[in-house]
Amino acid sequence: MAVLSAAQGRPLIELHGICKTYQMGALQVRAVCDIDLEIAQGELTAIMGPSGSGKSTLMNILGCLDRPTAGEYVLAGRRIAHLDDDALAELRNRTIGFVFQSYNLLPRTSAIENVEVPLIYAGARQRRARALEALESVGLAERAHHKPNELSGGEQQRVAIARALVNDPSLILADEPTGNLDTRTGLEIIGIFQRLNLERGITILYVTHDQEIADYTRRIIRLRDGRLESDEPVAEPILAPSVPADLQPVGSPA
Ligand SMILES: Nc1ncnc2c1ncn2[C@@H]1O[C@H](COP(=O)(O)OP(=O)(O)OP(=O)(O)O)[C@@H](O)[C@H]1O
Ligand SMILES: [Mg+2]
Repeated sequence: MAVLSAAQGRPLIELHGICKTYQMGALQVRAVCDIDLEIAQGELTAIMGPSGSGKSTLMNILGCLDRPTAGEYVLAGRRIAHLDDDALAELRNRTIGFVFQSYNLLPRTSAIENVEVPLIYAGARQRRARALEALESVGLAERAHHKPNELSGGEQQRVAIARALVNDPSLILADEPTGNLDTRTGLEIIGIFQRLNLERGITILYVTHDQEIADYTRRIIRLRDGRLESDEPVAEPILAPSVPADLQPVGSPA
């Protein structure tokens, strides 16, 4: 987490007047507009809003997969606009993990090899051992040599989380991570996010359409027509069944 923890005393994420406009031939589509937002290190936040309200667009900007067309994004004290594409890719690969609704695993490749992919890009050593450790932390070490089509949806999503984790990110961004899963399996995934947030202090944002799933965070941000509609703390945050009730957040007094 060395790269991102450099921003002492500043929020991990700062958005100032962020807009993203897509050019579709002669037509301009304003996907997000005028977003001001701060997210501190260690937060667990849900992003909600109707279809087309700009959630994925915002996640792609937060994840440095896409650049805003206006406004300023400061990630861990660094102005994204000042980084060239290589520097941005490097920052992204070292510090951000992504999880998608449809898992996005390589199909003919074992779980452990899927988890190793970000380490290959990063030129990291001890890839096998680190990938296995990441699979262990999502409870899937015994499935390491299964291919995606030999795994359930929930297991595939756990592999995707292990892949997001393997570079020891400060930030995990998940776009509808439980969208393809039944409620019970979805809650297992949310439980893994809660543990990673509490035990390791990883900042996590996930998009969901499901109010119940959003209630497992501590903050809910709502978008409508590309704008921030509301930003509220969760009154009574709940823990997923797999998370021990006495788990103390990292950094809290013993
Ligand atoms: N690459 C693109 N080119 C043109 N328009 C786009 C592009 N990506 C998104 N849009 C438009 O931007 C708006 C926001 O899309 P976005 O995918 O961010 O919504 P969303 O909130 O994630 O929706 P959903 O809940 O259906 O996933 C939509 O009107 C969409 O059609
Ligand atoms: Mg979306």
